[in-house]
Amino acid sequence: MDLSGAAATAKAAMAAIPSGAASAAPIADPAPRWTLDPCVTHLNHGSFGAVPVAVQEEQERLRRLMEANPVRWFASLPQRIAAARIEVAALLRVDPAHLAFVLNDSAGASTVFQSLMASGPVDVLVTDHGYGAVTMGAERLAQRSGGRAITLEVPLDAGAEAVVELVTAAIAQHRPRLLVIDQITSATARAFPVDEICSVARTLGVLTLVDGAHAPGVVEDPVCRDADYWIGNLHKFACAPRGAAVIVARGDGQELHPVIDSWGAPLPFPERFDHIGTLDTTAWIAAPFAWRHIEETVGWGSARKQTTELLDEGTEIVAAALRAVMDDPVPDVGQPIGPMRLLRLPGNLGSTHADADGLRVPFGDQVQIACAFSHFKGRGYLRLSAHLYNSIRDYQHLATVGIPLLNRWSAGRENSAGL
Ligand SMILES: Cc1ncc(COP(=O)(O)O)c(C=O)c1O
Repeated sequence: MDLSGAAATAKAAMAAIPSGAASAAPIADPAPRWTLDPCVTHLNHGSFGAVPVAVQEEQERLRRLMEANPVRWFASLPQRIAAARIEVAALLRVDPAHLAFVLNDSAGASTVFQSLMASGPVDVLVTDHGYGAVTMGAERLAQRSGGRAITLEVPLDAGAEAVVELVTAAIAQHRPRLLVIDQITSATARAFPVDEICSVARTLGVLTLVDGAHAPGVVEDPVCRDADYWIGNLHKFACAPRGAAVIVARGDGQELHPVIDSWGAPLPFPERFDHIGTLDTTAWIAAPFAWRHIEETVGWGSARKQTTELLDEGTEIVAAALRAVMDDPVPDVGQPIGPMRLLRLPGNLGSTHADADGLRVPFGDQVQIACAFSHFKGRGYLRLSAHLYNSIRDYQHLATVGIPLLNRWSAGRENSAGL
């Protein structure tokens, strides 16, 4: 792919924007600063991200331009979006002809599902590690189109080779039209070998949608180019303002239309995605700034190393606290990933989706610690994240204050069940 061409196209798109309004503020911070509440221990970057101060300020600058002259802003918006889109494509190392902005990963998945809706019955293969909301969308596609939704069970401890074998066998058995597979899973904080899986699927004539929601910032070269469609959030680890995500199409993408149909409808992909009506899309325009902010302050390579090493140590500290009530709090995860880790919850805490989800707010309210709780195959898990604002003290605090509370809740349930 020709990235020097991409840079030239980005420059041309920027040249079309009114002067004095295009340039981003210089990146002055020596390290990212955050507005996270210091009274709360933030250990769940994986769910909703966090936006550095400099990035918030850049978005605010763009919003001020919008509010100073809305008519002028919206007239220049497609050019601004095109310039940011081309820059993001270069940062993610993909040909800009194949990448479009979407509001979030869910919108990216919906875009793909919609494109298949009118093409006869669609059998969809998903895994039991899939993100619930995306899986439900896939199931609706199957149901509405008159196809079937098939769920492949993948053991948590399955290594890359075993996963490829399982998926290949399921494709051979069910011959689905579409495979939806996560690059990094949400509930189980593991990676899947998506490159290998997508190339096998292609030889078997199966379309692939790779959910890379967590990949930008976590994986050095995050886009799975073997996927027919790859979607990824810039508003998670990549620290863009919320509402910034991308879809990358392997082909020319002409079958794809934004979930919000607007004036771009007659345009080709990806330009038609630059038009979604009257909406605040400053998150898209600030997304390259966010990426550069981390690169120019810490460096993405150092950020990944730092968060992985921190979480190696932090997970061990939290696991030691859990060992007070269980033998083996650290599950065997087939392909673990750097900045998110899984630990078993005590007893039957979090053993259903509702139970796991129901722990987050009361736990946060009682101990002022933000964590993710998930469930998988009838077992509850605590999912830890690390980002640049975390230090080892955060995990020590969880171990000394948070884990005893979870242990008490678990013991309380066991006692009341025994009464
Ligand atoms: C694997 C995965 N897919 C999709 C999503 C949905 O992302 P969004 O809410 O930004 O659409 C998430 C959110 O955490 C996720 O973890």
